[in-house]
Amino acid sequence: MKLPVLLCGLAALTRASPAHPIRASQLDQQLQKRQSTDTTYKAYTIDQPIDHFPHESRYAPHTNATFKQRYFFDSSYYKPGGPVFLYIGGETSGESRFSNLETGIIQILMEATNGLGIILENRYYGESYPFDTSSTDELRFLTTEQTIADNEYFAKHATFPGLNTTSAINAPSTPWILYGGSLAGAQTAFTLKTYNSLFAGGIGSSATTQALLTYPQWYTPIIKYGPSDCISRLIDIVAKIDSVIATGDEDAIKTVKDVFGLGSLESLGDFAMTIAFPIGGPMNYPTNTWQELNWYPAYSAGEDFYHFCSNVTNDDAPESVKSVDTQLANYTDGEAWVGLGGYTDYVKKVLLPLCTTGRLNSTDIGCFGTQNETFYADVTNSGSRSYLYSTCSEQGAYQVAPPNPHTPSLVLHTLQIPYTQQWCTWAFPDGTYNTLPSTPDLYEYNKYGGFNIQAPKLALIDGNVDVWLDLCYHSELAPSPRVGPLQYLIAGGGHHWDSWGIKNVSAEPDYIREAHLWEIRTVKRWIADHAE
Ligand SMILES: *[C@@H]1O[C@H](CO)[C@@H](O)[C@H](O)[C@H]1NC(C)=O
Ligand SMILES: *[C@@H]1O[C@H](CO)[C@@H](O)[C@H](O)[C@H]1NC(C)=O
Ligand SMILES: *[C@@H]1O[C@H](CO)[C@@H](O)[C@H](O)[C@H]1NC(C)=O
Ligand SMILES: *[C@@H]1O[C@H](CO)[C@@H](O)[C@H](O)[C@H]1NC(C)=O
Ligand SMILES: *[C@@H]1O[C@H](CO)[C@@H](O)[C@H](O)[C@H]1NC(C)=O
Ligand SMILES: *[C@@H]1O[C@H](CO)[C@@H](O)[C@H](O)[C@H]1NC(C)=O
Ligand SMILES: *[C@@H]1O[C@H](CO)[C@@H](O)[C@H](O)[C@H]1NC(C)=O
Repeated sequence: MKLPVLLCGLAALTRASPAHPIRASQLDQQLQKRQSTDTTYKAYTIDQPIDHFPHESRYAPHTNATFKQRYFFDSSYYKPGGPVFLYIGGETSGESRFSNLETGIIQILMEATNGLGIILENRYYGESYPFDTSSTDELRFLTTEQTIADNEYFAKHATFPGLNTTSAINAPSTPWILYGGSLAGAQTAFTLKTYNSLFAGGIGSSATTQALLTYPQWYTPIIKYGPSDCISRLIDIVAKIDSVIATGDEDAIKTVKDVFGLGSLESLGDFAMTIAFPIGGPMNYPTNTWQELNWYPAYSAGEDFYHFCSNVTNDDAPESVKSVDTQLANYTDGEAWVGLGGYTDYVKKVLLPLCTTGRLNSTDIGCFGTQNETFYADVTNSGSRSYLYSTCSEQGAYQVAPPNPHTPSLVLHTLQIPYTQQWCTWAFPDGTYNTLPSTPDLYEYNKYGGFNIQAPKLALIDGNVDVWLDLCYHSELAPSPRVGPLQYLIAGGGHHWDSWGIKNVSAEPDYIREAHLWEIRTVKRWIADHAE
């Protein structure tokens, strides 16, 4: 989802979905540098009201001010009378969504219908900030309902300078179709639900329409579909570390941390997060994981995950690596920790060098400490901060281990609610007008229907190997049977995989091609219905 989402600089560079950034990394900085120079599309702005709800007390004190919300459009396929496709920006900058207009789903739909494609940047992301800083008070307008109200206002009032058209092409006189992936997919669904008559249709892809406080299920598809020997070794190592932690023996715990080269990480949570990075840590990770895999090799940023696993499963590793497997055997009645050598070797060679200052326990860029209130309290505008705010205020989905200490897990059981909640508390102290609840107010997100959301002209498309699947329509956690909306489950599909394309649908692998053909048919039916 939303929830998604990472320090996912690299992911975005390689066109994967931005995961869930909470801390700036070097990769983020590289990405921002590239983005600020990416002028493929010109940025336009609309004067968007900051407060769409002047009568709701949660937004007091109210304001009539507007902010400059950015949008980008592509008219290369457009013919007068064609439909409009609005790509919902979600938790990142508009620039990092350009590929959707160039080669992705919007390109596919524009080509099929002579449509116009637009990217609308989410409030509080990219350069669409209502305020110069993001204090707790200033963030009070970053809510799901304000965000989707932007979509309504935009569809009614947007202009397209230079476009070859005889009259304004706003909704509903022109058919407008929304598309969003992940968190933006959920926002698409919520927009269709709330402002149904304005739009011709909407596709929510891997739309995380359900908010849950904790989301241990993020790891479920990795456990199910990852290389099974890698997965079973990781689960076994995690259980062994958990058993050492459970003894409370500080020397033993320190010895385990030292084997990973992480002895200076004071917080057990930080240690747990860091060794989870190759799989995916809570809300952030510096390298690519299962989530960043892609059906098209050139877009796939997932090789990191497989490299990690092949280190853990490498039975031909040098003796210096393999001998680590027995180094902690005295804590487990002589039983070896099979794969530990490969695991720790990977952490030392791939992760530790990212912390260039060498202060592993600090919040320096690329380092692994998070126990720093000053760092989180910094009110400088950033996508990471905005995403953390939404997580803490309405979205939840804290990536924790299963609550039962005996349930097999890829991450240490020490990762529970307080570890993430602590960041919320540090980052968003009480303001004068706005105070965060002690845990996210999930009602504000779930009031649109959660797993059971439905609305006319809403289509939901998911992938069954997606880490966010269990917050989407096709979740294993959803009540069944359900009377659903239009829906499609891509067998073998990952996180909004339909959003990528190669400018030739018939050359795609069949499971993606068929999903795209279904989306084209669905959209054409909506356009025909809209004309009636
Ligand atoms: C916003 O404008 C309306 C209409 O002019 C006015 O009644 C209201 O007091 C204004 N609100 C604020 C916060 O200035
Ligand atoms: C505008 O659209 C019309 C109708 O499709 C077309 O004939 C004309 O050439 C277009 N003009 C420009 C400047 O693209
Ligand atoms: C690690 O950082 C925390 C928080 O800044 C600090 O309290 C602790 O003393 C540090 N530990 C080490 C070993 O540097
Ligand atoms: C271990 O990981 C590194 C870094 O990704 C990779 O280059 C190497 O090929 C992996 N080793 C094995 C045996 O797969
Ligand atoms: C187990 O082995 C480690 C590393 O060789 C050593 O530091 C530790 O003291 C040993 N612990 C016990 C309980 O024997
Ligand atoms: C804590 O954060 C502040 C502000 O970002 C930074 O200057 C300081 O170096 C950090 N300290 C540690 C130990 O990470
Ligand atoms: C699209 O792919 C199909 C199937 O591979 C191929 O036959 C066709 O030539 C391609 N079209 C274009 C425009 O490249």
